[in-house]
Amino acid sequence: MFSCGLPNRKMVWWGHTHPHIRSTENDLKPSMKYHTDARSECEPGSRGRILINLKHITKVRELEEAELAAYMNAEGTLVKTVSADQRFSLSDVDEIHRLFLGGIYAWAGSYRTVNISKGGFPFASAFAIPQAMKDFEREVLRVLTPCNRVDEDALAAQIAPVHAEFLLIHPYRGGNGRTARLLATLSAYQAGMPGIDFSFIKSRGKEFDGYAHAIHAALDADYRPMQAIIKRGLRLAQRLT
Ligand SMILES: Nc1ncnc2c1ncn2[C@@H]1O[C@H](COP(=O)(O)OP(=O)(O)OP(=O)(O)O)[C@@H](O)[C@H]1O
Ligand SMILES: [Mg+2]
Repeated sequence: MFSCGLPNRKMVWWGHTHPHIRSTENDLKPSMKYHTDARSECEPGSRGRILINLKHITKVRELEEAELAAYMNAEGTLVKTVSADQRFSLSDVDEIHRLFLGGIYAWAGSYRTVNISKGGFPFASAFAIPQAMKDFEREVLRVLTPCNRVDEDALAAQIAPVHAEFLLIHPYRGGNGRTARLLATLSAYQAGMPGIDFSFIKSRGKEFDGYAHAIHAALDADYRPMQAIIKRGLRLAQRLT
């Protein structure tokens, strides 16, 4: 089973705040999806609901539509440009994030400088992100990509640690979930699979709680819950379940 040295450092990186770095709690309630605690980060006129964005969008629905279109565009481009034998690097991951959100947010492709938690769970402290990402590249991306397994279990075992470790770090100000799912989907394509259907994970409820739990389990290098989720998504994409 895959194992990496990151857990040893997680004691230091997770859940600790730094006196010079502001913290913010983001929640997934629809009305709060883009919520930020800091007024200085909000798009004027959005009543604190939306982060400053290059399109000056102030309505949640409009932002959701713009982000969805941007995601579809990025996926369409990446499907054509990522090769089956491509080993993903940190600059590839930044580029995926930039392709996705670069038309909407100035910070696309750059690491966040605020601490973030969701549902009370803190992701890596902002000060630790550059080092955490370097270790993620060396110990996870280089070892587990590209994906070339045909067997579903083996493929899910390869994709799950990448997905979960990336989400634990949560390197960007937003768009981490979709970037992680895009990377996982590209990995499945590399292995000749028709992608991963994540649509069973809604933004709340039992399935979402299971997804959040699978991320938390990675703190102890337990990737089995995430592996089961990825396997289910692989099977759904093949219309097998
Ligand atoms: N309570 C939680 N514990 C751990 N991880 C969480 C929790 N809530 C959400 N997450 C993770 O954070 C992601 C959301 O992070 P972020 O807002 O940066 O990404 P997004 O792409 O904008 O959002 P979404 O994934 O909701 O479309 C979720 O997809 C999930 O992976
Ligand atoms: Mg978000």
